[in-house]
Amino acid sequence: MGGKIRVVTVFGTRPEAIKLFPLIHALDADVRFESRVCVTAQHRDMLDQVLAIAGIAPDHDLDLMTANQSLDALTARALTGIGDVLDAEKPDWVVVQGDTTSALAGALAAHYRKIPVCHVEAGLRSGDLHHPWPEEANRKMVGAIAGLHCAPTQASADALLGENVSPASIKVTGNTVIDALHWVTDRIGRDPSIASGLSDLEARFSGRRIIGVTSHRRENLGDGMLNIANAVKSISSRDDIAVIFPVHRNPKVLGVMTAQLSGLDNVALIEPLDYPHFARLLDISHIMLTDSGGVQEEAPALGKPVLVMRQTTERPEGVAAGTARLVGTDTDTIVRETERLLDDEGAYSAMARAHNPFGDGFASQRICDLLAANNG
Ligand code: UD1
Ligand code: UDP
Repeated sequence: MGGKIRVVTVFGTRPEAIKLFPLIHALDADVRFESRVCVTAQHRDMLDQVLAIAGIAPDHDLDLMTANQSLDALTARALTGIGDVLDAEKPDWVVVQGDTTSALAGALAAHYRKIPVCHVEAGLRSGDLHHPWPEEANRKMVGAIAGLHCAPTQASADALLGENVSPASIKVTGNTVIDALHWVTDRIGRDPSIASGLSDLEARFSGRRIIGVTSHRRENLGDGMLNIANAVKSISSRDDIAVIFPVHRNPKVLGVMTAQLSGLDNVALIEPLDYPHFARLLDISHIMLTDSGGVQEEAPALGKPVLVMRQTTERPEGVAAGTARLVGTDTDTIVRETERLLDDEGAYSAMARAHNPFGDGFASQRICDLLAANNG
């Protein structure tokens, strides 16, 4: 790799791919770096959707996903698989993002080889080890290992300072999800056909307000998912709305949503959308109901009210900005809060204002500069 700074970026799920492709593009375009991509493929098709649209061909693909994978088996296989890649590549930096199993395994494999770790989206904390589970523990463990903490906001930097992380290693960069959103919006602007696949649904639901729904959190599996399904069913009895729900591939999500919501006239249960089509869904939605982390960050940037179906959030910026509201997973509360936004124009317009608490779209370039400045 010559005299360049060698970087291996490790990830495995859809949201990591979305938040890391802008950084990978920036590393590829920067002569200071030799960039390699290692995917665990903890997710398979949902990951591949992002790689395809972003034009990223991984240098190493561990292809680890199995049906109903357990956290410990996946972690063990990821750790040894990534270790082999790092032994072959011998990078100056390992970059991981967020709080997944792949991020934890990537950081740990790097630490075992004394390779410095750059943590993208560092410092998010809900303060509750079980919400989100197991992610709150994952990000704390990655935070204990990382040598460079790229905090998306001042609040996340403050959380790290509160844990006695060395101040010199913490930088506020913004969240790369905003870089990704700008990139995809620009691509759609130049070629609307890449996001035109929802047009049949848009025609079918013409005249109704669209409610976009996603859910997948492990701590919501079981009762929480059933409550969410029942809330969607109840809301869908109105004739002035329609629900578009791209269902996560996790069989424990797909099973309950299919059982509860199939066959309802104004509920479209669809396959996971690729990123341009999901951006289109955000654009046409009146309200988002979600337990996703990434959607909580994208929706404020687009001025879309988000009802967050979780007990806690590590992204308080959306709530503080007034675009997001925590509603938990109680069926009646989800229905009540959704109907309030549908029926009370004042409540709706108070939430439907665009804010950018999560970044300005230049986080990736800042991270490249930090990798260069802190190398060696
Ligand atoms: C993981 C992350 C979570 C992140 C989420 C994004 C961990 C611990 N959790 O959770 O932080 O919010 O990804 O979606 O890493 N599956 C498929 N096809 C796919 C993707 C998944 O069939 O393309 C199935 C898997 O086989 C697995 C299940 O979905 O059985 C769950 O996937 P997994 O990566 O284990 O956890 P997530 O709940 O998706
Ligand atoms: N997303 C997508 N297609 C979908 C649903 C979500 O591209 O059908 C994107 C969404 O825009 C966001 C990310 O996936 O950037 C969020 O992923 P997810 O909710 O799976 O994980 P989390 O963000 O909660 O970790």
